[in-house]
Amino acid sequence: MKEITHELISSFRAPAFPGSFFLSFEGIEGAGKSTQINRLKKYLEEEKNYRVLILREPGGTPFGEKLRQAILETKTEISPLAEAHLFAASRSQLLSEVILPELSVPNTVIICDRYIDSSVVYQGHARGLGVAEVLDIHNIFPLNLVPHLTFYLRIGAEMSEKRQKIRNSPKDYFEAKGIEFYKKLVVGYDLMHELFPNRVLKLDAEGSMDEVTQLILKNTEILLASATLDDVSINNDD
Ligand code: TYD
Repeated sequence: MKEITHELISSFRAPAFPGSFFLSFEGIEGAGKSTQINRLKKYLEEEKNYRVLILREPGGTPFGEKLRQAILETKTEISPLAEAHLFAASRSQLLSEVILPELSVPNTVIICDRYIDSSVVYQGHARGLGVAEVLDIHNIFPLNLVPHLTFYLRIGAEMSEKRQKIRNSPKDYFEAKGIEFYKKLVVGYDLMHELFPNRVLKLDAEGSMDEVTQLILKNTEILLASATLDDVSINNDD
């Protein structure tokens, strides 16, 4: 496996569009991403007057939705390398068709439900392709553009199982892989927080939803305020 070098890590940057922001949410099944995304959207629209777009990965474009179906509904095992390239293809299309044109409109916030960290964690770490290998696939413009801030909603594998049982919805290709796979995902996400400590904000999502919302709003506010400052200081206490 390849080494994760400082040079590789530092090749990932947030897009620079004045007045617009790119955010993502990450976490395993049952972490509460959808609820938190909707709360943040409401806050940004109603209290901060931003134009907010929610996108999901894989998907978000007609081509991406086809890839989403191809991956998540497959009945046969596909290789981690094939998975990584399919997700990266969907992401490339989403970037050129939606993310970059929309961010060029001032006063826009794009919130992505999963982004590059999902590929690094699912394909790179949990499926065993390698973290540096997946980062390498993205080390080309515009795939090397990363969100300004990523909210990693952290729950353990056991809590995920518990919440999935309550929901009782059918399992997709990845969800069907079981608790050991989920444990690997948690380790992978923790690693992403260590590799990108200023971007990937790790929030304990096992407890109160409202407390998580408060932390998300507080850190978003710091980011928005930083638009007029040179120094971005994100509150990243674990
Ligand atoms: P989705 O139904 O959107 O999952 P969730 O509701 O948990 O967000 O399905 C997306 C699945 O695809 C999810 O199991 C994570 C996986 N995935 C990857 O493995 N790599 C990726 O790059 C992305 C974006 C998703």
